[in-house]
Amino acid sequence: MTRRILITLAILASPLVVALLATYEIVRVDFVSFMENQPSVDYQEGPRRLPAEGAVAFSAEARPAMADTFPLNPVPADAVSLQRGAVLYNLHCALCHGEEGAGDGPIVEFWKEDANKPADLRDERIVSQPDGALYLTLTDGFGAMPALAENLTPRERWDVINYVRSLQAAQGQ
Ligand code: HEC
Repeated sequence: MTRRILITLAILASPLVVALLATYEIVRVDFVSFMENQPSVDYQEGPRRLPAEGAVAFSAEARPAMADTFPLNPVPADAVSLQRGAVLYNLHCALCHGEEGAGDGPIVEFWKEDANKPADLRDERIVSQPDGALYLTLTDGFGAMPALAENLTPRERWDVINYVRSLQAAQGQ
C-alpha cells in the first residue's frame, strides 16, 4: 500500500521536477525566445527608423536659426512679447537683477563677498551684445548666473530678452 502511494506521488511529481530542471537551466532547453535567436540591429546599423513624415519634435528643444555663432531672435518685440517678457522678467530675473535691470535685486545684499554680483543689464557691455548672446546666457548660464533653460521655454527667453532691451532703452532716455 505505502509503495503504491510513493510510486503515485513520484509519478505525479515528475512533471514538476522536469519543469524545474528546465526553469533553472540545469537541463538547458533552447526555447526560441532566447535573445540570440532574435533578429538584432547593432549600433549604427540599418535599417534606420526615421520619424514619421510631418512629425513634430516636442521633447527636444528646436534649434533656433543661427547668425554666425549666435541664434537669431525669431520673436518680434511687439506689445504681446513685451507684456509676457515683463511678467517673466519680474518672476525669473528681478530677484537678482532688480526691477529696472540695474543689478540691485533684493537677493544681492545676501551675496557672497567674493562672488560676481548680478550684472547691470543696462551696462554698455550688455547693450552691445546681440540678442542671441543674451539667449545663450539664459540658456546655459554665465559665470555666477544660473542656467534658466529649465525655467523658461525658448519663446519665453526671447520675450524676456525683448523686455530687457526695453529696459535698456528706458535707461537711455
Ligand atoms: C540667481 C540670480 C540670478 C538670476 C535669477 C538671473 N541672473 Fe543674470 N546674472 C546673475 C549674475 C550673478 C550675473 C553675473 C555673472 C558673472 O559675471 O559671473 C548675471 C549676469 C547676467 C547677464 C550678463 C552676462 C554677461 O555677458 O556678462 C545677463 C544678460 C543676465 N544675467 C540676464 C539675466 C536675465 C534676463 C535673467 C532672467 C531670465 C537673469 N539674468 C536671471 C545672476 C542672476
